[in-house]
Amino acid sequence: MGDLAVEWSTQVAQAELSTALPRRWAHTRGVAERAVEVSQALGKGASLLVAAATLHDVGYAPRLTKTGFHPLDGARFLRDEHGAGEQLVRLVANHSFALLEAEERGLREVLEAEFPLLEDQLLVDALVYCDMTTTPDGERTTAEERVAEIRGRYGDDSVVGRFIRRAAPEIFAAVERVEDALAAQSRRG
Ligand SMILES: [Fe+2]
Repeated sequence: MGDLAVEWSTQVAQAELSTALPRRWAHTRGVAERAVEVSQALGKGASLLVAAATLHDVGYAPRLTKTGFHPLDGARFLRDEHGAGEQLVRLVANHSFALLEAEERGLREVLEAEFPLLEDQLLVDALVYCDMTTTPDGERTTAEERVAEIRGRYGDDSVVGRFIRRAAPEIFAAVERVEDALAAQSRRG
């Protein structure tokens, strides 16, 4: 994947989100900026990470809502309407521990069968890091504050609330792995 993939992902996400869901679009742009920084620092799947960050929440677009589970709706849309690459759709489908939320929704087997988790853990972690250190408005934040914000917004008794409580330790561990990798990289210069 190259810069063309990044341009394409921006066009697709903008078309689906900027008018329908402007706040989600602001979040998306923040996550994509983080992805540019992280991929430059780690020299890691650069275009793929930025494209996935740009498209991770496209499934929230009202037009694309089928199951109501946005990672799955988004990944199917990218695969079926755009013929997007396998790694990209698998990253989008599994972003930020979507498997745990799929379980709460009775969709875990469907998600696993259609979009297996990528084996490249640092790449998967990097997308978690970018999403979970960006506020709903696209500003920089900590994973702790982000998780607290999600819990407050959805409530502990909701599907998302139950998911985020279970996912929180995984999210913090993933963010820490990426921070360690970034620190190791900057020590190497
Ligand atoms: Fe999301």
